Order: sequence, then structure tokens, then C-alpha cells
Amino acid sequence: MKAIVILISGRGSNMEAIVQRCAAEGWDARIAAVVSDRPGAQGLQFAAERGIATAVVDHRAFADRAAFGAELARVIDGYAPDLLALAGFMRILDNGFVQHYAGRLLNIHPSLLPAFTGLQTHRRVLAAGCKLAGATVHFVTPELDHGPIVMQAALPVHADDDEAALAARVLAAEHVIYPLAVRWFVEGQLDLQGGLVRHRGGASLLLM
Ligand code: GAR
Repeated sequence: MKAIVILISGRGSNMEAIVQRCAAEGWDARIAAVVSDRPGAQGLQFAAERGIATAVVDHRAFADRAAFGAELARVIDGYAPDLLALAGFMRILDNGFVQHYAGRLLNIHPSLLPAFTGLQTHRRVLAAGCKLAGATVHFVTPELDHGPIVMQAALPVHADDDEAALAARVLAAEHVIYPLAVRWFVEGQLDLQGGLVRHRGGASLLLM
């Protein structure tokens, strides 16, 4: 059985979606822990109520990124994860941390990468007049919001969309593709080679 550790900073709705799909679909996996860099992260309560171990590594207690990353990795490794899933984890991770989890570190980002890395993606999508928006699950590499793309959801931008409406539709799509990508990772279906990911069974990695 694979051990999954999920990192959150706030609401944790993607974490919830993974926890729920894992239980509902009976994956050969368990959520070993939910770890946050913020003591008040809303998602911690959801996890604790379901008997999932929780931990907080408060980034404010560390002098620099590397010291924070080292302690975070020490705590995470206590749960011996096969997969580490960043789910709304809003801290930049240092290279040492990323390399330590190379090949078993996934993230979800609310844009069609490589477009719109960073923050306020929906606002920037609207300001650019994009007709298509979406979300991306990718393997994490040291460069922020980059790394081999696992799966994308694409959806139209409506003429009357505001940031909140677009964010809500993208989030709903995130809740579909992230659990699916994690499930496929757990099942050994994701083949990562030369920076490209394919599904071994030929399943589509695009949701439209
Ligand atoms: C999600 O939209 C996720 O894609 C985004 O933060 C939100 C977290 O929501 N992540 C990033 O922007 C990472 N660069 P959640 O806490 O409810 O899952």
C-alpha cells in the first residue's frame, strides 16, 4: 500500500478531494499525513476529523528557505511517503527539498502551464483576454510552477466571467484531475521519461 503525504497552506479542498476519492474508490493507498506550513490552515481540521495524522512546520520559525525545507523533509520522511502531493501549498521549496522527492512530488497549479505561473492566475487570464483557462498537475522541479506536465483540464472563459466565477469552475476541474493523477501515480500508470509523462494504458491526460 502506497503512503501519500499531502502538503497544504489553507483551505485544502484539493486535499479533501484526494482523501475522498482514495476512500471511495478503494485505492491501494492511504493518506499518511497532511502537513501545513501554517498553523491555522483550514484543511488541517478536515484531516484530523478523519483520523489522518497532521503536522505543522511553521515557516516563520526558520531563518531561510533551506532550513525550513530541511525540517519539513524531516517531518515528512517520518511518514515514509511514496508520493508527496502539494495541494495549495504556497511556499517556494528549495532545490534540496525538491531533489529529495524527485519523481514522487506532484503539484496542482490553477492555469494551463507553462502559461501563467505564479499567483493571481485567474485575474491575469481575464486581463489577457484568454478564451481558454484551466489547471495543470505536474511533477515538481526546482523552477517554480514548472516540471513535467501530468494532466491538464481546459475550460472556456465566459464573456461575463469575473475572477471568482472563473476560479470556481477551474477549482471544480482541479478536484477531478488531481485525484485522478494521484490515483494513476499510485497505480504505477504514469510513465515519466525525458521530461514527458504518458499514461501506460493510453488514457487521456486531458480533461475538456
Ligand atoms: C488551488 O486553486 C491550487 O491550484 C492553487 O491554490 C488553490 C488551493 O486551493 N495552487 C497554487 O496556486 C500553487 N501555485 P485548496 O487549498 O482549496 O486546494
